[in-house]
Amino acid sequence: MQLTNDIPRHIAIIMDGNGRWANARGLPRMEGHRAGAESVREAVETCRQLDVDYLTLFAFSSENWKRPKKEIDALMKLLERFLREKLPEMLQQNVRFQTIGRLNMLPANCRRQLDKAVASTRDNDGLTLILALSYGSREEITDAARALAIKAAAGEIDPADIDNDLFSKHLYTANIPDPDLLVRTSGELRISNFLLWQISYSEIVISPKYWPDFRNADLRAAVDEYARRHRRFGTV
Ligand code: FPP
Repeated sequence: MQLTNDIPRHIAIIMDGNGRWANARGLPRMEGHRAGAESVREAVETCRQLDVDYLTLFAFSSENWKRPKKEIDALMKLLERFLREKLPEMLQQNVRFQTIGRLNMLPANCRRQLDKAVASTRDNDGLTLILALSYGSREEITDAARALAIKAAAGEIDPADIDNDLFSKHLYTANIPDPDLLVRTSGELRISNFLLWQISYSEIVISPKYWPDFRNADLRAAVDEYARRHRRFGTV
């Protein structure tokens, strides 16, 4: 039974299990990331079909910098190529591309490609695709606290005026509504420093599948599960 009467406005995904997918096949980890890029393409396609407004993908965490340099370099190359190849498609499909994270940590050529994709899709008003890169939620919250402290010290804001709303406006996700649905693949029951503030009331769906195996039908099944849940926001 397809239940699409309650489509999440914003879906966030922790794409996990690329390495294990590759290991299980006796392939190098990078093959898992390459196959994972195809799942990214399908997730975008599904969100467009379902009329989801925002899709946020956890593509590279602050902690991922601790991985072997060879894997990091190959991931950055994959990302750059993905953006170069997909930009015409995003333009044609009216996708607006955005990023969150400490992007200044990324290699210059990668940043150039990201800036180009953000700038050239700025006026699109279809699906907003947000890549979380060099992203960590504690870092994001710390950056927001620092920005507010600087404004308070300069007398631009009164500390008494800091509330949920003002704080949210200083996060990387300032103009993005909170996720309604958070999906994590590969069966792990963890949040892994992803959007800690923003997922306060998100519905969470965990899939046992590794990310490269998580395709169109799996995302639709997660959306159907979301639609079946009764959302109460802490009320009765
Ligand atoms: C998690 O799997 C995945 C990542 C750290 C990288 C995500 C990257 C992609 C999906 C590839 C392409 C993305 C874009 C946007 C082009 P893991 O390596 O942690 O897997 P494991 O837990 O099984 O080792």
